[in-house]
Amino acid sequence: MSKKIYDIAVIGGDGTGPEVTDEAVKVLKAAMAAGSHIFNLNFKYLDIGGDRYLRTGETLTIEDLSALRCYDAILLGAIGHPDVKPGILEKGILLRLRFELDQYINLRPVKLYPGVDCPLKNKDPEDIDFVVIRENTEGLYTGAGGVLKKGTPDEIATQESINTFKGVERCLRYAFEYTRQRDLEKKLTLSGKTNVLTYAWDLWERTFYRVAEEYQDIKTEYMHVDATCMWMVKNPENFDVIVTDNMFGDIITDLGAMIQGGMGIAAGGNINPEGVSMFEPIGGSSPKYTGKNVINPLAAICAGSMMLKHLGEEEAGDAIERAVISMTGQGNIKSLSAGQMGMTTREVGDMAADFVAAGG
Ligand code: IPM
Ligand code: MN
Repeated sequence: MSKKIYDIAVIGGDGTGPEVTDEAVKVLKAAMAAGSHIFNLNFKYLDIGGDRYLRTGETLTIEDLSALRCYDAILLGAIGHPDVKPGILEKGILLRLRFELDQYINLRPVKLYPGVDCPLKNKDPEDIDFVVIRENTEGLYTGAGGVLKKGTPDEIATQESINTFKGVERCLRYAFEYTRQRDLEKKLTLSGKTNVLTYAWDLWERTFYRVAEEYQDIKTEYMHVDATCMWMVKNPENFDVIVTDNMFGDIITDLGAMIQGGMGIAAGGNINPEGVSMFEPIGGSSPKYTGKNVINPLAAICAGSMMLKHLGEEEAGDAIERAVISMTGQGNIKSLSAGQMGMTTREVGDMAADFVAAGG
């Protein structure tokens, strides 16, 4: 049988990004060599990020974008440079990639692994295991709006939330389909704000119940986003899959990251089901730890696992996840926080690769 070959673009990016993607690549290579996995990953490293911006003034060029469209997936480290004004790289690179590649789903598993310290009292891995599906190309993130009379006492700033029927419907459909495939509680929660944001959330709610008619096997529930925050802390075990818009999703997924043990372990996917998807640890570039070999690469390693599953290499993706679970469960890592792991970045990557080589 001929091996499948996947072309993977690696954007290490800024700060600790390249350090963690190096470890993720190490573990992905171990997964490729282990067991009966029949695939090859072809990694190509792209110079995109704050350093290049400071050198050339370019964030993402048309050439970058057309090159990226040819890959099977993208592994991203982090975007954010201490010498570049906040907003430039985020908008010029990260958000632009999401928009241009039409990665309309932001997929964020919130899963507490065994042995990981959870800030919630009396909550165990069986209590914290849900997925947030965040719309990733619309809402408050489109940049619609403007400013008038800037810097005067009469300044007017508007920031508009754009919700298209097409954008809302495709996100909801993905969420229903995902809930069905996940096949656990088969419950989908729409998290919104129908009591105040009556135009946008009326569209979301109507579309939600209309699509639900095609998914009679899925239980549906609507919950305001503020209440969702309360319940994520109080009774996270009640959630299976949550679907929400871009801004609310941004906020509740950071809360989700904290209840699963923090940025050291939280990974996400920017998915275009019909195109090129991008996987990232969600922690950011951590300039303070850059180059010190102390940052936790597990989130990037988990992003690699998500990437393999997305590519259809379920078994290899699971092997990486099992390796992470073994490491947290056996207490190999003292803490998930940078500098407190009791191991270096590279040692964590080596250990994960060894576990994967041994089958997880
Ligand atoms: C995230 C990040 C980004 C976002 C920032 C860096 C623009 O917080 O991926 O959640 O707001 O989407
Ligand atoms: Mn965020």
